[in-house]
Amino acid sequence: MRRVEHDWLRKMLWGCTFDDFLISPGWGVAVSRKDISLVSRFSQNIPLNIPLVSANMDTITGARMAITVAKKGGIGIIHRYLSNDDQCKKVEEVKREENFIIEKPYSIFPDATVGEAKNIMLKNKVGGLVVVDELGKLVGILTERDVRYCSGTELIQDRMTKVPNLITAKSSEISLAEVKKLMDDHRLEKLPIVDDDFCLKGLITSRDVENLEKFPLANKDKKGQLLVGAAIGATGDYLERSADLIKAGADVIVLDIANAQSNIAEKAVAEFRKRFPDMELVVGNIVLPGAVKVFNRHGVNGFKVGLGPGSACTTRKNTGIGIPQAQAVYSCSMNSEFPICADGGIKRDGSIAEALILGGSSVMIGGMFAGTDETPGLVFPDSDGKKVKAFRGMASREAMYEKLHAEEADNPYETSSRISPEGIERKVEYRGSVVPIINDMMGHLASTISYMGAMSLQEAKEMFMAHPTEYLIKLSESAKRESWDR
Ligand code: XMP
Repeated sequence: MRRVEHDWLRKMLWGCTFDDFLISPGWGVAVSRKDISLVSRFSQNIPLNIPLVSANMDTITGARMAITVAKKGGIGIIHRYLSNDDQCKKVEEVKREENFIIEKPYSIFPDATVGEAKNIMLKNKVGGLVVVDELGKLVGILTERDVRYCSGTELIQDRMTKVPNLITAKSSEISLAEVKKLMDDHRLEKLPIVDDDFCLKGLITSRDVENLEKFPLANKDKKGQLLVGAAIGATGDYLERSADLIKAGADVIVLDIANAQSNIAEKAVAEFRKRFPDMELVVGNIVLPGAVKVFNRHGVNGFKVGLGPGSACTTRKNTGIGIPQAQAVYSCSMNSEFPICADGGIKRDGSIAEALILGGSSVMIGGMFAGTDETPGLVFPDSDGKKVKAFRGMASREAMYEKLHAEEADNPYETSSRISPEGIERKVEYRGSVVPIINDMMGHLASTISYMGAMSLQEAKEMFMAHPTEYLIKLSESAKRESWDR
């Protein structure tokens, strides 16, 4: 539902961004930060348990980052600066990471050899296979333990645990509590699911069951698989790429170009909608409320907002174009029926709260996740021997070269050296896992909500929008120094 723009707030935010403001506290009511809900949405039909999205940048979000962020409750958007095939593989990797029931577990026939089974297990990084006959009936199960010391020529049927000795369950009857009891009673690692004719219908693994408890906020689809998004462009093979990504299991497509308030993006969105009427689509980047109105007519499900605030962006410096992020997030969100993802410019945890309070439903993070284990790329020593990783803007010359290379363009080096970059590449200190960074971000956000006197992110946003003059404080230069200089 569109909201009513608050004149005072619009004027206050004009030309301003996060560091220009503080939020006034309210009367705290929360007993513990743990009770505070951070539930939100990335787009109309993509929920979030925490309002964090990892950026579709080639030094930020591959499968590993997307898995980690989704397990914590957010979502990752797989970048598009790689071949169709490679991007689809990353989507598939995220979708396979967790399941309650694996619907199509890796399987093998009983007359295949142990060597063949070992190959399948190694290639797909799984510790076991279900054994089925030609009719799809379950006949046994084979785990690494059964074949550890085999030469490879032995037949599966001589090594597997056979059906009369197998514990199985019927899919229609099974609940998590029952699965846990069966696994506990029989010390099971794997529980095959069969129908009345004993045809294989799926597999539940102890690892998936453990993860259900280890990651209670994990952001999942109806099948229990992690949610993941994938980026596309607005020209070239973007429709074929979309078709492949949707087939690979992407839950949301993010049409992402530097300036989506353009004929190119509008045409691409219209074509996308014609071909994929029901697929969740987020469009970015925009900063103009007028663009929201145009895309709303084409049936998009959400927006990515930001032009030039990113930590590896030079668009504003190189072109003089941009809108300060606090102003852009507020004005776009006031005109949007669907969620806004505030993309870029988050340099400290407190800015996340400001971006959300001012109208964002989620924030997209690039630079603050850079240099972590979960980002693509290697850790290497810099000239002082310090451990570093590369981080770069997607409009940097280096990223453009990579894109042209993935597209198998002629002379990618020469072509990329002719394009004027609007981003930079730099080394960032290696920082270990992204998990403690996410924990701190969300802990700080819960504190903001508690200081404001709310019990949930949604409540805090509503309180702010109902009485912005009570909460938003524009800072003097000396107040900025008092707040930010440390
Ligand atoms: P942060 O501040 O989290 O921002 O690093 C991430 C966002 O920055 C955008 N981005 C770019 N913008 N030139 C730009 O003008 C670039 O080369 C570039 N690369 C990334 C993008 O929106 C990302 O999510």
